[in-house]
Amino acid sequence: MEDILSLRHSFQEEAESAASLLELQHLKIKYLGKKGLVTARLKALSSVPPELRPSFGKAVNEIKIFIEEEIDRMEALLKQEEHKKRALSESVDITLPGKSVPFGREHPINITLSVITGIFASMGFEVEEGPEVELDYYNFEALNMPKYHPARDMQDTFYVSDDVVLRTHTSPVQIRVMEKRKPPLKIIAPGKVYRCDADICHTPMFHQVEGFMVDADISFSDLKGVLELFIHSMFDKETPVRFRPSFFPFTEPSAEVDIGCIFCSGRGCRVCKDTGWLEILGAGMIHPRVFEFVGYDPEIYSGFAFGMGIERITMLKYSIDDIRIFFENDLRFLRQF
Ligand code: DAH
Repeated sequence: MEDILSLRHSFQEEAESAASLLELQHLKIKYLGKKGLVTARLKALSSVPPELRPSFGKAVNEIKIFIEEEIDRMEALLKQEEHKKRALSESVDITLPGKSVPFGREHPINITLSVITGIFASMGFEVEEGPEVELDYYNFEALNMPKYHPARDMQDTFYVSDDVVLRTHTSPVQIRVMEKRKPPLKIIAPGKVYRCDADICHTPMFHQVEGFMVDADISFSDLKGVLELFIHSMFDKETPVRFRPSFFPFTEPSAEVDIGCIFCSGRGCRVCKDTGWLEILGAGMIHPRVFEFVGYDPEIYSGFAFGMGIERITMLKYSIDDIRIFFENDLRFLRQF
């Protein structure tokens, strides 16, 4: 009995100093495990004289239950403490100011591009795209600009090889689309174009939107109607529009389209060079020779085409006087849109 009593004391002492769940686990094994101190007493029961056996057995059982309960109680306590400690170490100060993630926004060129695309989509035009590295054939030849023809001098071309260029305009998409599809066609083709040119009005890469419509009975008045509607949606509803005779090898007749100067309302200013007009696009009726290149019969089909620079339109819309700023990635500029 004394032995049991001292066992109880030593357990209590050790239990008091157990500071973690791991230590408690060790303690449990030491006393209640297969080779534990209490287990050993239970095994020894058979060697106790029979008359003492009931009281000894009862005492061993009691201490076993006592230790089990004590360990359970301490385990619950330690778990609670560890949980508290962890919650404390992992806690965040929700009163600290948040870290803001800088937000990107659409580039002004893309803003204009989506407005233009939206206007033409509302008139039933589809969007097509073509390659930026283009065959000489599509960029020039099939657009009625044979090799060594002086009309090619209008565009300072980056040549990749004799037969391959960086496209100088989006007009080659006309040829590519007409080659693979049959009329009726109502297409716009936006994208990057390249010319060997750099000053405040020119960058070596810029953007154009090409547009064209082909069917059995397309006339110049369709071209006027479509472009006037476009200009009045893009700029003010009252903006004056003027078609001026011009020349492009791939259209006949050809025109340049001007709008009344949006800065001086036509009175004359620095931007319109005192003419009262701003040129915004080139257009015309698709040349019969272009139709022959794509295998359309010019006796059956007619169509119009136009092409415009997106930078130019964006500069007019937002009063920007230097084209280079679009591509310098100066956030002070880009954040204004
Ligand atoms: N491709 C011409 C250029 O880059 C613009 C142009 C003019 C396109 C007349 C056309 C057009 O489709 O009909 O200067």
